[in-house]
Amino acid sequence: MSDLPTIIQGGMGAGVSSWRLAQEVSRIGQLGVVSGTALDQIFARRLQDGDPGGHMRRGLDSFPFPLMAERAWSKFYIPGGKPATASYKTVSMHKKDTPRELSELCVLANFVEVFLAREGHDNPVGINYLEKVQIPHLPSLYGAMLAGVGYVLMGAGVPLKIPGVLDLLADHKSATYTLHVTGAEEGDDTTMTFVPSEFMERALAPLARPQFLAIIASNTLAATMLKRANGRVDGFVIEGPTAGGHNAPPRGKLQLDEAGQPIYGERDQVDLEKIRELGVPFWLAGGYGSPQKVREALALGATGVQVGTAFAYCAESGLRDDYKQALLAKVVSGDARIVTDSLASPTGFPFKVAQLEGTLSEREVYSARPRVCDLGYLREAYRETDGKIGYRCPGEPESVYVSKGGRREDTVGRKCLCNALVATIGHPQIRSGRYVERGLVTSGDDLSGIVRFLPQDKLNYGAADVVKELLSVD
Ligand SMILES: Cc1cc2nc3c(=O)[nH]c(=O)nc-3n(C[C@H](O)[C@H](O)[C@H](O)COP(=O)(O)O)c2cc1C
Repeated sequence: MSDLPTIIQGGMGAGVSSWRLAQEVSRIGQLGVVSGTALDQIFARRLQDGDPGGHMRRGLDSFPFPLMAERAWSKFYIPGGKPATASYKTVSMHKKDTPRELSELCVLANFVEVFLAREGHDNPVGINYLEKVQIPHLPSLYGAMLAGVGYVLMGAGVPLKIPGVLDLLADHKSATYTLHVTGAEEGDDTTMTFVPSEFMERALAPLARPQFLAIIASNTLAATMLKRANGRVDGFVIEGPTAGGHNAPPRGKLQLDEAGQPIYGERDQVDLEKIRELGVPFWLAGGYGSPQKVREALALGATGVQVGTAFAYCAESGLRDDYKQALLAKVVSGDARIVTDSLASPTGFPFKVAQLEGTLSEREVYSARPRVCDLGYLREAYRETDGKIGYRCPGEPESVYVSKGGRREDTVGRKCLCNALVATIGHPQIRSGRYVERGLVTSGDDLSGIVRFLPQDKLNYGAADVVKELLSVD
């Protein structure tokens, strides 16, 4: 057990827990986790930005199948970067029968991110995915495993079938994953298949099977994962509703406070006694970013903690600098504010939003945005009347969503998280040379607590400062 990390730097999509952050955390002996969400798109945009520092190229040079690497490079790389007012090339949106080019992009992007995070040290690195973003899973996992990922962490859904997928992909065997299709009927084909041999340019030895940690928020889900998963579950991250990013909705009928935030109660508490009885390692997440909370978690029998917010604002994270500085200034002045928005995310899960001028947290900025859906990771697959699979997102233009059988009331307050989150890490789409996509920053309720990592008179700290402080004994 002693080789398990005390601190897991939580996966933060999209691109906030980038390879740079994960590399630093793993280098100093804790578990760095890259986000695997939308990496295909992020990778394509980094190439169109001219691959500053040559990191993507370095990763591609170590990829075992050079022809595939060259196809993506020649399609997306722009020497010196695209002109500032030019739009990024559109990458087609994921569908059940993903075109080969898009699967290749997933394999490559996930490989490169993990490869870079593993450079310069011998410690494990993890990758995080949201179960709900199902379509890219198989090629993404294969790419991450080709790069030797040590842990796969997955939440935002019930990842029962991922452990078995890891076993198959480790042997370069075909794997399948069932796409959730709303309204699907008996006999509909909802199975996605990935066949590694169709992508391999040469034979490779079997890959290491990464450890699988499920991110959960209830005892029932923990027990279900152990009982019904199609392979080994190596542990749990137990995430409470104060955590940054998406939160599990409260149990029972949704009740909101006067600010429109979901109200959590007794039933949402996880019984740690029962978790201990399951006999697998677990880490606690959501407001555990202080040395006192780390000690508390250990005393409760946890192997350690998973921390997000404290790492999101450190120098190595992918969060763009102007947002980072502005929010750190608010932390210092005591003005940092988080709203748990029950509408913002197209997933329907509550989503924590840091209030920041110029981002979609402001009503006027949100209203001024033309509703466009062109990244599509959060689209819901649904059965059309003729039995085909259609795709819709409550963040797309209202009339389009309604024409696809969606309910108009479900579009209210929905934000295009895909475009916003990619803008938040500095790759905003430019529309017609004029409209620049705005970002949206997510953080945990304890955002103001990160003041403990800031040196006097400075708005800058590193991942190593966070790790040192969390493990300090005072
Ligand atoms: C900016 C940000 C993005 C996040 N994105 C994800 C994500 O993509 N997947 C995920 O499982 N958790 C995500 N999280 C949750 C973290 O992995 C972690 O569990 C959580 O931040 C812990 O609570 P804390 O914010 O109080 O430290 C995100 C958190 C933050 C702050």
